[in-house]
Amino acid sequence: MYAERIAGLRSSAIRDILKLMSRPGIISFAGGLPAPELFPIKEIGDAAAKVLSRHGSSALQYSITEGLIPLREKIIKKLDPDSKYLSLENIIITQGSQQGLDLISKLFLDKGDTVFTETPSYLGALQSFQLFQANIFAIPSDEKGIQTEELGKKLKTHRPGLLYLMPNFQNPTGASIPMDRRYRLVEIAGKHDFMLIEDDPYGELIFEGEKLPSLFSLAQSKNFIYMSSFSKTIAPGFRVACVIADKEIIKKFAIVKQGTDLHTNTFGQYIVNEYLENGNYHEHINLLRETYKVRRDCMLSAMEKYFPKSAKWNKPAGGMFIWAILQEGYDAREILMRCIEKNVAFVPGQEFFPDGSGKNTMRLNFSNATAENIEEGIRRIGEVLVKTSPQI
Ligand SMILES: Cc1ncc(COP(=O)(O)O)c(C=O)c1O
Repeated sequence: MYAERIAGLRSSAIRDILKLMSRPGIISFAGGLPAPELFPIKEIGDAAAKVLSRHGSSALQYSITEGLIPLREKIIKKLDPDSKYLSLENIIITQGSQQGLDLISKLFLDKGDTVFTETPSYLGALQSFQLFQANIFAIPSDEKGIQTEELGKKLKTHRPGLLYLMPNFQNPTGASIPMDRRYRLVEIAGKHDFMLIEDDPYGELIFEGEKLPSLFSLAQSKNFIYMSSFSKTIAPGFRVACVIADKEIIKKFAIVKQGTDLHTNTFGQYIVNEYLENGNYHEHINLLRETYKVRRDCMLSAMEKYFPKSAKWNKPAGGMFIWAILQEGYDAREILMRCIEKNVAFVPGQEFFPDGSGKNTMRLNFSNATAENIEEGIRRIGEVLVKTSPQI
């Protein structure tokens, strides 16, 4: 009955458990959700009203597959202010970056093709590549993202179709790729013929340090694809994101997208465009940065206070996640089950490892909880960790 590729599909046991957990009172560090109390509700309401009065029916009509022209122009201008390497033909608006990943899989993956990813990597991307029956190879990563030496070694024996990376505050680890590695990645990619996919939904959420240039802008090559999204900067409910690529590739994206949904929702694009033009987008980003930074710091100090000394974690300079590595022998799934009894949740890191390793790791989201709940939630997790002995 089902297509052959559906046979290998499994829902994630942990995702299923976490889905059941939206009960009141739970402190959840599990989702990758922005802070709902910061959504610019009034400004979006004003933008929606203006769109309807100014554009009326065209904001509710079918529209072109590539996306609303003024919105595309704004994104291009932001990424390439001097119009050196991008034009309107280099961008397509997608229904979230997740659709970008789906379209990429449809465009570039045949059954059995190889995809290289960081370890760990974004679950939604892994699911998309797996649906198209790709073989995923996890390239070792550290606190500076993918290890380029290991990548070089793997490229001697494998020919990937895609290399999928999140250079800024990646999901799940929060790690960013520093400048020297970015140059090295561009150099390596220049010697091979895979597509390098750069997924960047968190780049704007920077708390400290300098914003680094995208791999796409460094390479300016047709083997690079860049993706960004308004999910984490305005609101995920809009499902408005974009793919930037060579114009011939964008043409192919448009054809594949037509078969999927014709175009991204028109009204949402108009509202996002109006909000960018006349709303408080820049102040809003600053508010997100300030609030998330306070929440990150709050989580870090609570972890210092309550987590066992054997646990290690990073201090991400942006984004929404802290990554913790527990002493060898801990099973984060088991810890989660005990934490659920105490009304607190996180995602066991193993979910993000294509090879099933990472049993003793956990992803903690800090954007979606108040400082008070962060302190209390981390205290509860810490208590479970201290009471649980690692199984060596
Ligand atoms: C790395 C990464 N890529 C893509 C997505 C999907 O984002 P969107 O809401 O734009 O579909 C997410 C969502 O959490 C993500 O973390």
